[in-house]
Amino acid sequence: MKSPNIGQDLAELETPTLLIDLDLFESNIRQLYSFCNDNGKAWRPHSKANKSPEIARLLIDHGAIGITCAKLSEAELMVEHGIQSILLANQIVSPGKFATLAQLQRRAEVIAAIDNIAVVKAMGAAAISAKTTIPILIELDIGLKRVGIEPGEKTLALAKAVCGQDGLEFRGLMGYEGHVLNISPPADKQAACHQAMDLLIQSKALLEENGIEVEIVSAGGTGSYEISGLHEGITELQAGGGIFMDAMYRQALHVESLEQALTVLATVTSRSTDHVVLDAGFKTLSSYHHPPEVLDRDDLSFSYLSAEHGVFAINPGCDGPALGEQLRLLVGYSDSTTFLHDHFVAIRNGRVEKIWDISGRGLIR
Ligand SMILES: Cc1ncc(COP(=O)(O)O)c(C=O)c1O
Repeated sequence: MKSPNIGQDLAELETPTLLIDLDLFESNIRQLYSFCNDNGKAWRPHSKANKSPEIARLLIDHGAIGITCAKLSEAELMVEHGIQSILLANQIVSPGKFATLAQLQRRAEVIAAIDNIAVVKAMGAAAISAKTTIPILIELDIGLKRVGIEPGEKTLALAKAVCGQDGLEFRGLMGYEGHVLNISPPADKQAACHQAMDLLIQSKALLEENGIEVEIVSAGGTGSYEISGLHEGITELQAGGGIFMDAMYRQALHVESLEQALTVLATVTSRSTDHVVLDAGFKTLSSYHHPPEVLDRDDLSFSYLSAEHGVFAINPGCDGPALGEQLRLLVGYSDSTTFLHDHFVAIRNGRVEKIWDISGRGLIR
């Protein structure tokens, strides 16, 4: 099978292939960075959707202060590739992971999010034995009811414990407002998002009243960055998937400021009177959270994905595409699609300009 090559024509690529439209992608990076910058926030894009050190480097070259990771193994990969500042925005609880995290501090700043006092002593001990210091953000539950300690007094007690623990350095707070993303109308979403941000800022104030400096307050995903990014006191935004944008962000979360840059190139491998089948099923694409859509055509509607078949209905009155025709599918949700692929093939003016490895795929520990 021929691998994609730099300079190759889009029409000559074997399918399925995950594509990035470079013009749109670069415009998204500029938009996310300048929004942060214009509003006095730092940009620490979440890398869970790209899992690619090459893209992480590119984002830092375009103004990001570092990146956010969801897994310790992803953070390790990023450190190996020279990324110097990482927020591990997820909880780890095992001694082996504490030891790895402590060792990583020798090569980069890897800030850990914690939400339970039970980890404080053991994490501190790991840092002491590695002769390093682990920087800490406390993660608050600001309404998502996933992870995070209760804002207010409980957060204060945890912050005091961190400050009192050798080997740990308290740096601030984080929260993810995932519960507000698909609230509508927009005024209700704005109100819910600001309410969530208030919980972070009120806890920051409480800590400061108690003499604890809060340097970082981190929040903000792609689905709400334009609201959380206006909230006073938030210092950095984690919006990351927005570099790709996808159909979910646009249609379900109503993000209008970014361009849909991520598609899968696929081929019609079978057709009947009322539907076509593409060579991209759920091992290539995903309909988790949001289904894929065919780019620039209105003759097809998503039907379902089986392992290696993507089935699209031909809309009434339409002829549909021919057998062997190549189509581009807008990705439904980038997070549930990119990790199925070995690399991003980045195109401009119909030709391959860059190929970026998704070397973090499979890193789930
Ligand atoms: C901790 C955290 N921060 C930020 C985000 C937002 O990520 P994105 O901007 O890629 O939607 C998420 C999404 O799940 C998250 O879990």
